[in-house]
Amino acid sequence: MSQREPKQSRMILRAAILISFAAVALISLASFAQSKANPSHPWMNPGLSPDERASLVLKEMTLDEKISMLHGTGWEGLGPVSPLAGGSNGGPGYVVAIPRLGIPAIQMADAAYGVRGSGGNGRYSTALPNNEASAASWDLDAAYEYGALIGRELRDQGYNMSLGGGVNLTREPRNGRTFEYLGEDPVLAGKMVGSVMKGLQAQHVMGDIKHYALNNQESGRNAVNVNIDQRAARESDLLAFEIGLTESNAVAVMCSYNRINGDYACENKYLLTEVLKNDWKFKGFVLSDWGGTHSAAKASAAGLDHEEPAEIFYGEPMKKAVESGKVPLAQVDDHVHRILWAMFASGMVDDPPRKGVVDVMGGLDIAQRIEEQSAVLLRNENGQLPLDASKVHSIAVIGAHADVGMISGGGSAQVDPPGGNAIMPPGKGQTNWQDQVWFPTSPLKCIRAKAPAAKVQYDPGTDVSSAAALAKTADVAIVFAYQWESEGMDLESLSLPGNQNDLIAKVAAANPHTVVILENGSPVTMPWAEQVSGILEAWYAGSRGAEAVANLLFGDVNPSAKLPVTFPRSEADLPHPVVVKPPKATVDADAKGWKQIAAGLPSFDVTYDEGVKVGYKWYDAEHKPVLFPFGYGLSYTTYSYSNLKVTPGMNPRVSFTVTNTGNRAGAEVAEVYAALPAAAAEPPKRLVGWSKIKLNAGESKEVTVDVDRKYLSIFNVEQKGWQLVPGDYSFMAGGSSQSLPLKATVGLK
Ligand code: BGC
Repeated sequence: MSQREPKQSRMILRAAILISFAAVALISLASFAQSKANPSHPWMNPGLSPDERASLVLKEMTLDEKISMLHGTGWEGLGPVSPLAGGSNGGPGYVVAIPRLGIPAIQMADAAYGVRGSGGNGRYSTALPNNEASAASWDLDAAYEYGALIGRELRDQGYNMSLGGGVNLTREPRNGRTFEYLGEDPVLAGKMVGSVMKGLQAQHVMGDIKHYALNNQESGRNAVNVNIDQRAARESDLLAFEIGLTESNAVAVMCSYNRINGDYACENKYLLTEVLKNDWKFKGFVLSDWGGTHSAAKASAAGLDHEEPAEIFYGEPMKKAVESGKVPLAQVDDHVHRILWAMFASGMVDDPPRKGVVDVMGGLDIAQRIEEQSAVLLRNENGQLPLDASKVHSIAVIGAHADVGMISGGGSAQVDPPGGNAIMPPGKGQTNWQDQVWFPTSPLKCIRAKAPAAKVQYDPGTDVSSAAALAKTADVAIVFAYQWESEGMDLESLSLPGNQNDLIAKVAAANPHTVVILENGSPVTMPWAEQVSGILEAWYAGSRGAEAVANLLFGDVNPSAKLPVTFPRSEADLPHPVVVKPPKATVDADAKGWKQIAAGLPSFDVTYDEGVKVGYKWYDAEHKPVLFPFGYGLSYTTYSYSNLKVTPGMNPRVSFTVTNTGNRAGAEVAEVYAALPAAAAEPPKRLVGWSKIKLNAGESKEVTVDVDRKYLSIFNVEQKGWQLVPGDYSFMAGGSSQSLPLKATVGLK
């Protein structure tokens, strides 16, 4: 046998060489055929760089063709719909093809936690756990998988561009879109969105990061003028975009509705040109949020490349502005070049989407696995969890329609559940804008499946005394509670709506073994926290949320997630205890519709005088105690930290040992923070890196985190650059922003 192996290997090698030759020949033949078929389309040669390809196309284009790439074709309610919109695949954005030049149409879809609008288009999409939930996994591989799944489902549904990628920091936790974003820390949010974009773009779909920038409240979003100083902006909200873009090379950025320091985001030269295109060397294109364009000449000069969804400014008016010399042709050429570059660089031209059937079962498995890594165990008194099915004889499941489903986040992120809204009668569950939508993943059924011998009963929780009475008869009470949120509105408060606080308190009074499962997108306040024995933050749990929650409750999966946002004790502790609402004149003007919005609404100011102190940086600096800190989350095992070493250098290396000191395997998010020298005048500490590590019971591992110098720097406005302030830096490691047992100080310069 062993004699024959070399011969076999040689044969295999020869076969491999022959196959490679054949492949090369085929590719050459294909390119030959292509160049033969299209001798005038040399840009279709994938061997050229995206830059070269874009320049070659641009040279051939007429002014009308160029203009056609600069805008969408309209959308009901947000600008006139052009007759050309007929070729749209049903998404909110459609840019016509130029068949003469072989340039495909751009088909955009919203895709925050899954592909939107599938219901109306007769298709199916997986709902992943919401974006903030995924940030709670602190798992870059899971984030990649998140993006890859969305990319595949976009292609299956005929789209070649995603409008997901929300990365606005949670500066205002009552923002109705908090669930679409990735938490309050720029390094965590930036790295996570970077991974999502990498996974997405690997499917040859154009990725977009949004809403650039400082669109941190929905109230009066088309009118609000955000005031913030440059250094604070660069070190907080803008840093999340910077990291996301550098990590992923996402090819598009969506500018936001609001104004920043006086100018609309979509005509803000500082943001679009100085920072994004010059400083960060972004080569892709900027598209406006839907109806966020307010001019042709000013926006174009500021760096807006593309108007969505209509052609109010970037259609005929832009053409006239070019013809009259108000907008230089070179500027339009730059816009078009950027769009073409993005199309070639993403691979969507060479590998166009082909409609197919979404891999439903594969998507469900991924959604469940991500939820299992994203649900945060916040409280577990006396080892209440995991539940032991052999010892629990009766369970009361209460509230939040837990008999039929789990809620999801609304607005343009909304994914449509199969069969319609689970809380509606069959056939009546069409999902409309700002409906509260439940997915058909039933916690009651999943809990019953885990504890087949137990008596598991359900009470809707609408009548508090009936729920408490049921809880009294059971070994364990599991209360499901929710706070729904959506684009287009902010939360009135962080309190659970309706009777839910009362419900939980009364159930807890009736049963000392009460566990609360939270379904929400923003932090919630919990006046009952000390009265219950367990709290699991499940977020908007996605298509297979109930299965994941049941696996966590019964210990088939060990929780490993950590909070990407601080849970404050009350709104009074926030930097802005009250959300600034638009004045009546703005609200009235807004109600007049898209023409008025395009022309501009009376603005009002929100001043972020807390500056860089977003989230935990605020509570740390102000010495405000919190309910649950950033980076916090429990496990069914325990971990210890030891042996910290810091090696100074350009990018300091932090290493330490983490040991699983409990009796079951788990995964720990080991977090590294740094305190800068006093001369830097920064909040007490900032996250500078982390590692999520799997450890068997009793196992120890050395963790190494290389800290990017930028994460230790401040932004120097005069020098227009990042600067490391020489001095002593303290590095701290541990399992939450408030549990950092290791600390070492080194001098850096
Ligand atoms: C939202 C965007 C979304 C767009 C298209 C806008 O209202 O702010 O996030 O991508 O609509 O649906």
